[in-house]
Amino acid sequence: MNKKESIELKSKIDINNIPSHVAIIMDGNGRWAKERFLPRTAGHQEGMKRVIEIVEVAEKLNIKYLSLYAFSTENWKRPKEEIEGLMKLLVQYIRSELNKICKNNIRIQTMGDISKLPETPRKEVERAIEKTKNNNKMVLNIGLNYGGRDEIVRAVKNILEDVKMGKINEKDINTKNFSNYLYTNGIPDPDLLIRPSGELRLSNFMLYQIAYTEFWFSDIYWPDFKEEHFYKAIIDYQKRDRRFGGI
Ligand code: IPE
Ligand code: IPE
Ligand code: MG
Repeated sequence: MNKKESIELKSKIDINNIPSHVAIIMDGNGRWAKERFLPRTAGHQEGMKRVIEIVEVAEKLNIKYLSLYAFSTENWKRPKEEIEGLMKLLVQYIRSELNKICKNNIRIQTMGDISKLPETPRKEVERAIEKTKNNNKMVLNIGLNYGGRDEIVRAVKNILEDVKMGKINEKDINTKNFSNYLYTNGIPDPDLLIRPSGELRLSNFMLYQIAYTEFWFSDIYWPDFKEEHFYKAIIDYQKRDRRFGGI
């Protein structure tokens, strides 16, 4: 798609019905690389370029929350070299992008247990969170060592602790305040979930939050995911009839 077609597509977006929270399972980096006889890390590298672009596109569209699944609790199963490559890219991303992110008034948050990340990426992530904490144009919420089941179990443990401390009464626990115990505390549930790469599954992503999210799947690999695909997903989303169980 050329620039003109992409602009035309963008003009079809209803600016009064922009999803407030978009979540993306960034998938297909490895297969993208394999098709080109490149190492998997090259796919991750190309994928990072798409992250930079899509963050900017989302911010320009006035999306309030963008959640990106970058590393799951299951991704530790991968070869050591690949994990190291991913961690290096995370550090590189923060070091090269943080000033621009700050200038664009974007706040970085994370979901997942970042204490388990190696020291350098952990410190860079903490620095990014601290440096952007007062920004309010968009929240960039990155899933790092994130798993939906892990998040729910952690929430239950924290609730039990609060019950024990008398901070909350067991009978007052409900589906609304349960959300406060998730990593996404304070962030509304995603309106739209995008998963490229052809896989039709959640892979342990935002299991609690996604109850009424609209899904958009595509066969395209994440390194090929351009702004026009983002526009297409939003246009499709805007045609959906969200009933939330009503009529
Ligand atoms: C997504 O791409 C990136 C991460 C999970 C970190 P993959 O690495 O899963 O690529 P495929 O799915 O093997 O093609
Ligand atoms: C999901 O992709 C995790 C991220 C995108 C970070 P995976 O590639 O790990 O998921 P599966 O293994 O295909 O389900
Ligand atoms: Mg994958």
